[in-house]
Amino acid sequence: MAADLTLAPTGAPSAAEWRAAMGYFPTGVTVVTSWGGRTPLGSTINAFCSVSLDPPLLLICLDNANPLRGPVEDSGVFGVNILPAEGGRELALHFARNPESDRFAGLEWAACEGGAPQLKAAPIFVDCQVQAIHPAGDHVVVIGRGVRTCHASHETPLLYHRGSFPDLRPAQ
Ligand SMILES: Cc1cc2nc3c(=O)[nH]c(=O)nc-3n(C[C@H](O)[C@H](O)[C@H](O)COP(=O)(O)O)c2cc1C
Repeated sequence: MAADLTLAPTGAPSAAEWRAAMGYFPTGVTVVTSWGGRTPLGSTINAFCSVSLDPPLLLICLDNANPLRGPVEDSGVFGVNILPAEGGRELALHFARNPESDRFAGLEWAACEGGAPQLKAAPIFVDCQVQAIHPAGDHVVVIGRGVRTCHASHETPLLYHRGSFPDLRPAQ
C-alpha cells in the first residue's frame, strides 16, 4: 500500500476542495449563445457534455446568476460554439467578462431561421432546442436537443484545466 497518499478528512468537501477536485478534470471550452429578444447573448461555458446519440441530446450547466439563464428558458433555443486553440482564450475571457449586451460587438456571427447565434470563429457549432431544465444546487442543468451541427474546420480545440488554458498544439 502506498504510504504517501494524502487522504482528505472525512466529511463533505469544502468549496475549495470541491473546486480543486473538479478543476483537475480537463475540459474543452464553449461559448453558449441565445437571444434576449433580438439581441444576441453569449456566455463562456465549460460545463458541457454529450448525453445521448438517439435522440441527439447534450447538456450545459448554467449558474443561477448567469444572465443567459432567463434568455435560454424564454427563447427555448441555444447554440454551443466549441472554441479553437487559436484565438479561443481571448474569446473565452471576452464572453466571461465583458458586459452581456456588448459581447458580439466587432465579432463575425450569423444565425439560421429560428436558431441561435453562431460565431464564425468556432470550428464546431451545435444549434439546440431546450428539451428540459433541471434545478441542481446553485446551477441549472439544461438539456438541449441538437437540431443542426456545423463543422467549419478541424482546428485544434481550446482546453481548460485548473484555471488555465494549456496549449495542445505542437510548439512551432
Ligand atoms: C473557462 C470558463 C468556464 C466557465 N464555465 C461556466 C459554466 O460552465 N457555467 C456558468 O454558468 N458559467 C461559467 N463561466 C462563467 C461565465 O462565463 C460568466 O459568469 C458569464 O458569462 C456571466 O458573466 P458575468 O458574471 O460577468 O455576468 C465560465 C467562465 C470561464 C472563464
